[in-house]
Amino acid sequence: MIEPIDLRQPRHGTPPKLQVEQLSKSFGSSSGSVQALAPFDLSVEAGDFLCVVGPSGCGKTTLLNIVAGFESPTSGSVYVDGKPVTGPGADRGVVFQQGALFNWMTILDNVAFGPRSTGFSQSVARQKAMELLELVGLSAFAKKYPYQLSGGMQQRVGIARALANNPQMLLMDEPFAALDQQTRELLQEEIRSIWQRTNKTILWITHSIEEALLLATHIIVMTARPGRTKASFVSPFARSSDPHVASSMEFAAAKRTIFQLLRGEAKQAQQMEEVP
Ligand SMILES: Nc1ncnc2c1ncn2[C@@H]1O[C@H](COP(=O)(O)OP(=O)(O)O)[C@@H](O)[C@H]1O
Ligand SMILES: [Mg+2]
Repeated sequence: MIEPIDLRQPRHGTPPKLQVEQLSKSFGSSSGSVQALAPFDLSVEAGDFLCVVGPSGCGKTTLLNIVAGFESPTSGSVYVDGKPVTGPGADRGVVFQQGALFNWMTILDNVAFGPRSTGFSQSVARQKAMELLELVGLSAFAKKYPYQLSGGMQQRVGIARALANNPQMLLMDEPFAALDQQTRELLQEEIRSIWQRTNKTILWITHSIEEALLLATHIIVMTARPGRTKASFVSPFARSSDPHVASSMEFAAAKRTIFQLLRGEAKQAQQMEEVP
């Protein structure tokens, strides 16, 4: 069963991998300002696989962009290993929903780009890239260009590229949302095995409750905008060795719990959209 857990404070004595403190974000425009995130706290320990679910527009991407260092918060702070985040860094690998590859570079050079920009020679960077392409099952496609690959393969390249600087943390924004169910399931298996082998810390945004339950050690459900944590859980299914875990009664009950929490928030989000 999933159990409620307080993820606002570090759970161990040491600084957590990721700490979000009183984080909020507003976007200003000529027609007024939108508060995307309300002040909230979140603590993620090394090796956690944290899935974030929440209604559309509740600030999930905004949260990920702030942790990645692409956006700055309006208030509050983000710390990685106790150090404040002030911009993007090789310690955090990011995978987007789709379309973030360099179309003018081969697959190999897309993956080698990170190691190249952190100072590795062309040959060492390409060797690292080749190993990662093997890891994601794409070594035969090294010389192809992104447009020659299917959506699922492009997402695999995205994962290899995010892993190329050997980051301790992976930040993934609905990385499989645009894929068909079968490809999605295969890639979920792959990411699970990468996580189990490397013990990386993963912040994973998804709108699929099932995906969250299959992958996460911890799940947060966010409120409608301005987003903050509505509920947080520790989840046992990702560590289960039972291949049929998703058909168990416990899994179905967990799905219902999260679905009910989300439904209330989604309704509220919808009403907000309807306000002129
Ligand atoms: N750069 C931006 N400028 C103005 N508003 C933005 C910007 N980015 C996001 N928003 C607004 O902030 C809210 C949260 O967006 P987002 O983080 O993308 O939500 P989610 O990923 O949960 O769907 C939305 O209302 C969105 O329109
Ligand atoms: Mg988003």
